[in-house]
Amino acid sequence: MKKLIRIFAIALVAAVTTHAQLPLNPKVEQKIDSLIAKMTLDEKAGQLSQYSGGMDDNSPESPEKSNYEMMVKEGKVGSFLNVHGVKITHELQRIAVEESRMKIPIIFGLDVIHGYRTVFPIPLAEASSWNPDLVEHDASIAAREASADGIQWTFAPMVDIARDPRWGRIAEGSGEDPYLGSVMAAARVRGFQGENFDQPKNREAFDSATTILACAKHFAAYGAAEGGRDYNTVDISERTLREVYLPPFHAAVKAGAGTLMSSFNEIAGVPSSANRHLMTGILRNEWGFNGFVVSDWTAITELHLHGISADDAQSAALAINAGVDMDMEGSLYLKYLPMLVKEGKISESVVNEAVRRVLRMKFKLGLFDDPYRYGDSKREKAETLSAPFIAAALNAARQSIVLLKNDSNVLPLKKSIKTLAVIGPLANDAYDLLGPWRGLGDSSNVVTALQGIKKAVSQKTKIIYARGCDILGNSKAGFNDALAAAKKSDAVILVVGESAAMSGEASSRSSLDLPGVQEELVKAISETGKPVVLVLMNGRPLSISWEAEHVPAIVESWFLGVQTGNALADVLFGNYNPSGKLPVTFPRTVGQVPIYYDHKNTGRPANDTVKYTSRYIDLPSTPLFPFGYGLSYTKFEYSGLRLNAEKIFPTDSISVSVDVKNAGARDGEEVAQLYIRDEYGSVTRPVEELKGFKKIFLKKGETKTVSFLLTPESLSMLNINMKKVVEPGVFKVFAGTNSVDVKEASFEVVAK
Ligand code: BGC
Repeated sequence: MKKLIRIFAIALVAAVTTHAQLPLNPKVEQKIDSLIAKMTLDEKAGQLSQYSGGMDDNSPESPEKSNYEMMVKEGKVGSFLNVHGVKITHELQRIAVEESRMKIPIIFGLDVIHGYRTVFPIPLAEASSWNPDLVEHDASIAAREASADGIQWTFAPMVDIARDPRWGRIAEGSGEDPYLGSVMAAARVRGFQGENFDQPKNREAFDSATTILACAKHFAAYGAAEGGRDYNTVDISERTLREVYLPPFHAAVKAGAGTLMSSFNEIAGVPSSANRHLMTGILRNEWGFNGFVVSDWTAITELHLHGISADDAQSAALAINAGVDMDMEGSLYLKYLPMLVKEGKISESVVNEAVRRVLRMKFKLGLFDDPYRYGDSKREKAETLSAPFIAAALNAARQSIVLLKNDSNVLPLKKSIKTLAVIGPLANDAYDLLGPWRGLGDSSNVVTALQGIKKAVSQKTKIIYARGCDILGNSKAGFNDALAAAKKSDAVILVVGESAAMSGEASSRSSLDLPGVQEELVKAISETGKPVVLVLMNGRPLSISWEAEHVPAIVESWFLGVQTGNALADVLFGNYNPSGKLPVTFPRTVGQVPIYYDHKNTGRPANDTVKYTSRYIDLPSTPLFPFGYGLSYTKFEYSGLRLNAEKIFPTDSISVSVDVKNAGARDGEEVAQLYIRDEYGSVTRPVEELKGFKKIFLKKGETKTVSFLLTPESLSMLNINMKKVVEPGVFKVFAGTNSVDVKEASFEVVAK
């Protein structure tokens, strides 16, 4: 009876929750019911198990391959990751739908993070474009290429907010801000899955086999790891979790993301893969998510090492009860779920529910209609790395570049420059600039910085290339050649930074300095007195205080993908006027970390001339470059910030307008940014919060009015009782070119 009441109570909560995702298709649910009714416990566990096959069309026959084939035949595999290629995916699929008892198709997943064969800029770079349409378009291209090669599911977008640049995975996300992160998360989900994924309109599957299932990861707060050490402990309040780390996941779910991945970390003592509050309470009951959750790689097995389960069987029970539906690579579900049900340790209905969610996505992908609809050799040949895809990669790379400094208009350089030195370990690199998680990206498709520069300059220009040093290591043997090249030249382009392997998973750094002897190289070249343009390639903010003070021009290019050289040359020689803005704060030194723009005020706000304030005595309290910062070759002026009301009720929206003038001598794009500050509340609020942005194009001399709408949603906060409300009081509004250079106005929310 007690149990019944509980079930009823849960149903009631579910019924009153506004479902973010669309209602289920009753026809499909019935089909799933009848499949589940016929499945054995072992077959159910099989559907919840995923294995990394590590195979493609060229893989030779091997005992491992035969073993996987046997497992598929026995119904032990619900999904493979790291298997791609039309031939092999179709062959495994054939075994599943013809030779296994239940004939349920397999779903093939892969990490398609920033492109498949056409590699785009890393996500942190694309976030610098502040252009969600571009991000969506690139994700759709990645989906087209991957689906043609048999892939149906990507483990992306990575939507973890990251405020610690020591954490290598900062490269995979959209930076430090929940609003920007949410916009980018939704854009990527739309791009991968297509607009129609969640709009089945009485159909069982979405339209096209050119889009793939998205997976928002890593749920949740993985980026808040202590000390920026990957996989490390997270201890944040429920408020910070909900206000900072969850919004991009919620945005992804609202955009229709079919799957999520549980993160490796714990939050306040509970590892995500055992966290029922997160996986069921928030995700299903509050947000109405009806897709499935896959664990991260062996994350269920790792519950034991976390110290929350005594053995593997208990780990499996904890995870399935929490709401983790599929076990990536761990084998624990396959091994233990049937036994746990038989021993009465978990309920079969929990297993059935997980199977239902997995099958639901297989139906949505259309795999029951046509298990071979993904994987299309003809389309693969026609489309992969095709001209429109490469053009998109160039556009993305241009818009991802952030101009950090440009004293005395060193940039753009003249194409007719007589002698140009191109120096640095990354200047002619074709490997690292594909960044971490490069899909099937291949260096042979890359345009290096040097190649791009050579194409851009006049035929008479003499280019002298010197590597100077390696990315890592102590050798200065190459310095002499580099110095000689610089001395003979009219200007120097110096390309330095990190290797691709220095960011991404398990690539945390304790220092944010340029690795190896690169800073010494920058200093030596600067001493020649030649105009130096520093080009950075890296997966995280770097502490480049010396460079920011002494080098006249600095270009942040992150890892830009296959079109790096062409995009860089376009910016360096003025074919493209840079428009990127930082999605993450650049600290002066690693000691300032964590440093982010939407911090709290404290009772003693930092004041560099007052001792007893919140600051370091050996550093200015400001960052090196603030959030939202990025220069252009033209100049934008903001004026006339105005609101359409002085007072509003908590249920009202208010509109904000500002005039932006291109006051310089070139056409250009600007990202106009809108921030608010809720002055006083039942709990403290950040000094600034991004609430809107618009990327606009302005001809030289042109003025445009940019308008934003602040809705109750954008003005709301979690009050002292953790309720989402708009509290009466004064709000400041800031609009400008970055989070620091802003115009200010204010309005008041009054109680009804
Ligand atoms: C990573 C995930 C990735 C998975 C599969 C894990 O190690 O944390 O982000 O999707 O591997 O490759």
